[in-house]
Amino acid sequence: MIGSGSKSKMVQKFTKIKSIQGEISLPGDKSISHRALIFSAMTAGESVIENISDGIDVRSTINCLRQLGVNISEENNLIKVQGVGYKGFKQPATQLDCGNSGTTARLLSGLLIAQNFGSKLVGDESLTKRPMKRLTDPLKLMGGKIFSAANHTLPIIIKPANELKAINYELNVPSAQIKSAILITGLHYEVETSIIESVITRDHTERLLDLEVIKENEKIISKSSIKNYPSSKKYFVPGDISSASFFIVAALLSNNSEIKIKNVSLNPTRTAIIEQLRKMGAHIEIISNKFSNKEEYGDILVRSSKLQNVHIDQKIIPSLIDEIPILTVAGAFAEGKFEIRNCKELRVKESERIKSICYNLRIAGFDVVEYEDGFSFEGRPSSKELVFDSFGDHRISMSFSVFSMLSEKGGVVKGFESVNISNPGFLTQINSICKFS
Ligand code: S3P
Repeated sequence: MIGSGSKSKMVQKFTKIKSIQGEISLPGDKSISHRALIFSAMTAGESVIENISDGIDVRSTINCLRQLGVNISEENNLIKVQGVGYKGFKQPATQLDCGNSGTTARLLSGLLIAQNFGSKLVGDESLTKRPMKRLTDPLKLMGGKIFSAANHTLPIIIKPANELKAINYELNVPSAQIKSAILITGLHYEVETSIIESVITRDHTERLLDLEVIKENEKIISKSSIKNYPSSKKYFVPGDISSASFFIVAALLSNNSEIKIKNVSLNPTRTAIIEQLRKMGAHIEIISNKFSNKEEYGDILVRSSKLQNVHIDQKIIPSLIDEIPILTVAGAFAEGKFEIRNCKELRVKESERIKSICYNLRIAGFDVVEYEDGFSFEGRPSSKELVFDSFGDHRISMSFSVFSMLSEKGGVVKGFESVNISNPGFLTQINSICKFS
């Protein structure tokens, strides 16, 4: 069984799973939740959001919006947002704390450069190390008065702009956060702003705002202008596919297991993890699909499967960037050599994820080769009790919790509490569907 440890730098112990059976519904997708909140805040009326993410990251967005004068009330599983209307935000009395959340810092920057007041965005130790030049460069091209620290990190200081302009911008790093920040600024002008991508990234901003997206010569072009400025509505936030991927991999690799995950996001820019696991031999069935505000979701069924490592196409990397830690865990219990390349971006996530993953794989007894843009390993995991480190990163914490639950002698995860960033209910969900030997 699983018990909980002390609160700070919590060490969580896991024993091996005997089987996983049953049904779960997960809190709303983190990326969609941030966007539903920000777009609702911009409107001139009341929006209602159902099944929002209960993670600390989304809480950071709620807190920042409240500081910007937005009235947000919470009742059971419903959030009500009273929008402030076009440029109706108020100057915050203090700096805006984005905590650990890159999405909060980057999307809000896109909104704030278009306001008539100054603001300052700060974050925790991890967020303060993450690159912001990719954000400030295009926002400056739009006329934004946005300044980061000398090493291009937080804090970010924003001053009211004299005049802003629309841009046509080709992303040099595939990033939905940067794309969204620019498209959000673009909502304040009559002239259309266009973002050009050569590799597809998550498209929640485009779907929720119903933006025009065209494909031209292998490029994807998304456009925003004032005609797409949001109006109030009802949102249902589908369950988080990234949170679901931990349960998917745990069920695939445990004996006699079958689970149904209900109402999970099936947005095609997010389901690369399902496709990749299927290529490895996973039994994952999509048993229903529906839409809410153009976002596809449905129920999926996952059964115990024997997995084989296969090639990972570089084109899908941005579509499963957040799932690479758990995909690696699947790879560690699959037959054959696991190799992933073209994912240098992992080095600038909530932790230096290539290092965090390689460290934990070595703890599990693998002989790992680390590359600048990825890593590879093969063999079987050690049968000793394993002591993993989360490096304060929620996805590393959940991935190596699953690793522990698949290991003969179980394992422990140090700094387990980082799961609260995206899924505070992780342990409760595990205890509701897993049987332990
Ligand atoms: C996100 C985009 C991705 C992803 C992050 C959430 C978003 O980041 O890793 O967890 O909501 O737009 P990048 O834009 O840095 O790739």
